[in-house]
Amino acid sequence: MSRLVAPPLSLYMHFPWCVRKCPYCDFNSYTLQGDLAEARYIDALELDIQSQSAEVAGREIISIFLGGGTPSLFSPNSIARVLDVTRRHLRVAADVEVTMEANPGTIERGRFAEYRAAGVNRVSLGAQSFNAQRLETLGRIHSPEETRRAAQELHGAGIENFNLDLMYALPGQDVAEALQDVEAAIALAPTHISHYQLTLEPGTLFAAQPPELPDDDLAAEMLTACGERLATAGFAQYEVSAYAQRGRRCRHNLNYWTFGDYLGAGAGAHGKLTSAGQTIARTVQAREPRRYLAGVPAALTRKNVPVADLPFEFMLNALRLVEGFEIETFVERTGLEWQEVAPTVDALLDRKLLIVQGTRLLPSAAGLRFLNDLLLSFLAETPQTTGAFGLSTAL
Ligand SMILES: C[S@@+](CC[C@H](N)C(=O)[O-])C[C@H]1O[C@@H](n2cnc3c(N)ncnc32)[C@H](O)[C@@H]1O
Ligand code: SF4
Repeated sequence: MSRLVAPPLSLYMHFPWCVRKCPYCDFNSYTLQGDLAEARYIDALELDIQSQSAEVAGREIISIFLGGGTPSLFSPNSIARVLDVTRRHLRVAADVEVTMEANPGTIERGRFAEYRAAGVNRVSLGAQSFNAQRLETLGRIHSPEETRRAAQELHGAGIENFNLDLMYALPGQDVAEALQDVEAAIALAPTHISHYQLTLEPGTLFAAQPPELPDDDLAAEMLTACGERLATAGFAQYEVSAYAQRGRRCRHNLNYWTFGDYLGAGAGAHGKLTSAGQTIARTVQAREPRRYLAGVPAALTRKNVPVADLPFEFMLNALRLVEGFEIETFVERTGLEWQEVAPTVDALLDRKLLIVQGTRLLPSAAGLRFLNDLLLSFLAETPQTTGAFGLSTAL
């Protein structure tokens, strides 16, 4: 691990409550019962950030992501407080990207201008679909009209840099309808669109009572048709599910995908930290909000990533990128020699699932489509390789 170099550093903050839990969602989110523990939660985040700050002393935070759950349930004052706290305890880059996830059903008039004044400069809006019937099936709390209004509010507030989350392969959806959703999203002039295939996640209501979904061939057709439409509107695909206008890729997610470091604060938040020349550790906070509030900051657990897991963990992230990665980045961010993965890479090159372009390694179109199968080749033959950070949670 001698060549391990500390990579760029981000901060993820988790806000675990939602107005209502969606039946497909396996994120660490909970239907809000009673009043939001707003001030208590922000106090807890402060303690959490403060206690983790020593470990990254002097390192600059390049991006902050306020994710959920539904951070937009928190008032602009609370968001301002948490960003002030961050600046007090951490070294934040002058041009930091600060993204906040927002549910269109929680946005009152004028709210985005206040979030912007609080320091938010990028928003990710959970549109999911523009078809009222599909939104109902998905258990969403908002109408297509509310999503349109939220997008107008974003433009009005001067937050031009925003993402829309869309899901496709919805129950009963055909290619034409999936395309209508993409068309409606483009019409709102976002800078970024995330386009996720709906998956049935274990432990969700949809997994227990599965709706009938389009088959794999139909889903693949939707993906191709939507990708082509997005490309003609200037949204270039740069990751399995991410499309962006020029210069508008999400800096925060790119740091995950290039095996960068991040602090994780809030209920169930995960972190990854590199000690230069030594080890890579994963941290995770108490998952359930009540346990988090009671246990912060001591409830943070920390585990070194076994060296044998590093090739898989790196590839799991970096091969999601259409342009792949610089081979040197693998060496710097895992501390391993390229030789460790060269035989596996060679076999995948032979199978035309990977491509070499100069000093970069990238997935072929087939490799990107069958990414899960490709990644299995990098699993170490030790029993420790799956689990909390294994395939099922990260893909
Ligand atoms: C953590 S959610 C946050 C967004 C915000 N809470 C909202 O829903 O408006 C991030 C995104 O993941 C996607 N997502 C969640 N569960 C999914 C699933 N089972 N299959 C595909 N995409 C999913 C949705 O598009 C969602 O907007
Ligand atoms: S999809 Fe978003 S709003 Fe729905 S439960 Fe998950 S985090 Fe909450």
